[in-house]
Amino acid sequence: MKFKIFYLIIFLFACISQIYAIDKNTTKIEITKEIQDKYPIKPHHSNIMLSCLNCHQGQGNDVTKFKAIGDKGCISCHGDKKRIAKRLEYMDMLKANPHNSIHDGPTLFCDECHNEHKKSTNMCLECHESEVKNWMRVTP
Ligand code: HEC
Ligand code: HEC
Ligand code: HEC
Ligand code: HEC
Repeated sequence: MKFKIFYLIIFLFACISQIYAIDKNTTKIEITKEIQDKYPIKPHHSNIMLSCLNCHQGQGNDVTKFKAIGDKGCISCHGDKKRIAKRLEYMDMLKANPHNSIHDGPTLFCDECHNEHKKSTNMCLECHESEVKNWMRVTP
């Protein structure tokens, strides 16, 4: 029993030092109020406390030089495109699932519709200007 507690304590110390190690890597990046206002985060992401580095990890220390994160970035948290298509599966009935369209299936790039720091768009509108609002919500 004593042994178990000993190992548990060692384990906890390992965890804590790990957290501090990560912290040391990231505190180099200063995020001012001005920067936060310039690159606002969508409510669905700010509500869960995502910050710049959750998405822009490994892109250096200069926040103004961060780059788009592409499909890979979104998928690293949201699962693959099939899984994303599955979330709105009920929309397949009208063939209007934006993540599984009759034209392209689950292959479109996220940023054909979703943006993070500016208003999202919806590429389906290019050809279906009047139908889209009946098919789906405004792109979050
Ligand atoms: C949920 C993921 C996410 C978070 C959190 C996030 N970004 Fe971004 N960032 C993106 C995406 C996606 C793009 C591509 C452009 C877009 O969608 O607006 C981007 C683009 C950028 C760009 C390039 C803009 C351009 O014009 O090319 C900068 C700079 C940037 N982000 C800074 C930040 C800063 C600073 C923060 C924290 C305050 C932050 N980002 C938080 C996803 C994120
Ligand atoms: C660091 C992890 C992370 C990254 C990177 C990320 N997200 Fe999210 N996102 C989440 C979590 C967690 C939620 C809330 C739970 C959920 O709905 O999956 C969320 C929620 C969302 C929602 C709202 C869901 C709803 O129910 O209304 C959308 C839309 C979204 N993300 C799109 C994107 C797009 C597009 C990208 C790429 C630019 C992206 N996310 C990148 C973690 C992330
Ligand atoms: C053709 C445009 C389009 C593309 C491309 C697209 N989305 Fe979406 N996405 C939407 C629209 C529109 C909604 C809202 C659908 C609704 O609820 O009516 C949405 C909703 C979401 C949601 C919330 C789903 C939920 O459960 O409510 C997430 C998460 C998401 N998108 C992530 C992604 C990711 C990640 C990618 C890239 C792999 C992507 N989307 C590509 C248009 C698009
Ligand atoms: C480049 C133009 C273009 C784009 C972009 C486009 N469509 Fe279409 N779509 C068409 C054409 C052309 C047809 C066939 C003629 C018609 O029924 O309007 C069609 C038909 C459809 C139909 C009716 C199919 C049927 O037989 O019931 C649906 C649903 C549809 N598209 C959904 C979408 C969705 C969802 C998107 C975005 C992911 C999208 N389309 C993007 C051109 C486009």
